[in-house]
Amino acid sequence: MSRMADRLLDALARSARHSYGGETVSELEHALQCADLARAAGADTELQLACLLHDVGRYAVDPALIADTTEPRRAGPRARGHHEVGADLIAPWVPARVAWCVRMHADAKRYLCATEPAYYDRLSAASRHTLRLQGGVMNAEEARHLREHPWLPDALALRRWDDQAKVPGRATQPLEAWAPLLGRYLGRG
Ligand SMILES: [Fe+2]
Repeated sequence: MSRMADRLLDALARSARHSYGGETVSELEHALQCADLARAAGADTELQLACLLHDVGRYAVDPALIADTTEPRRAGPRARGHHEVGADLIAPWVPARVAWCVRMHADAKRYLCATEPAYYDRLSAASRHTLRLQGGVMNAEEARHLREHPWLPDALALRRWDDQAKVPGRATQPLEAWAPLLGRYLGRG
């Protein structure tokens, strides 16, 4: 196991102590549920990895770097969205598609709000709050631009699993079950 894979496993394990942004599950439960949903749906391992790590910017970096949080933290002057910070953290190690899906998981929500009226109505209160911090509903021009991206379906799939991965007490694979996948993709770090 590489240092980077170990570091992420450790950060995920410690994220069990933190609730997932105003929801009723922990950060770890949320990550495990999201990755399990992807696996159950037959997603390839890149997309499963993106689902497991999509919120890495919430729990594996200095909170002062994060601008879009529901908790009253002191965001520093150069704080950015957790999706940007998390994608930058893993980008040197993972395939470009994995980092892109992590980077886009906030924009995917903004896109779905613009293109599916019923989607916004289903968002949790916490998710609506962060939507405002992440730029709000996407405008038509932005949505048209994003629609042409070949990986958009992957980012939208991740987003929908992300939205569903908030069920208190749902049984999942344990974190250790994901260690081989992390080792395979982050083994060079
Ligand atoms: Fe999430």
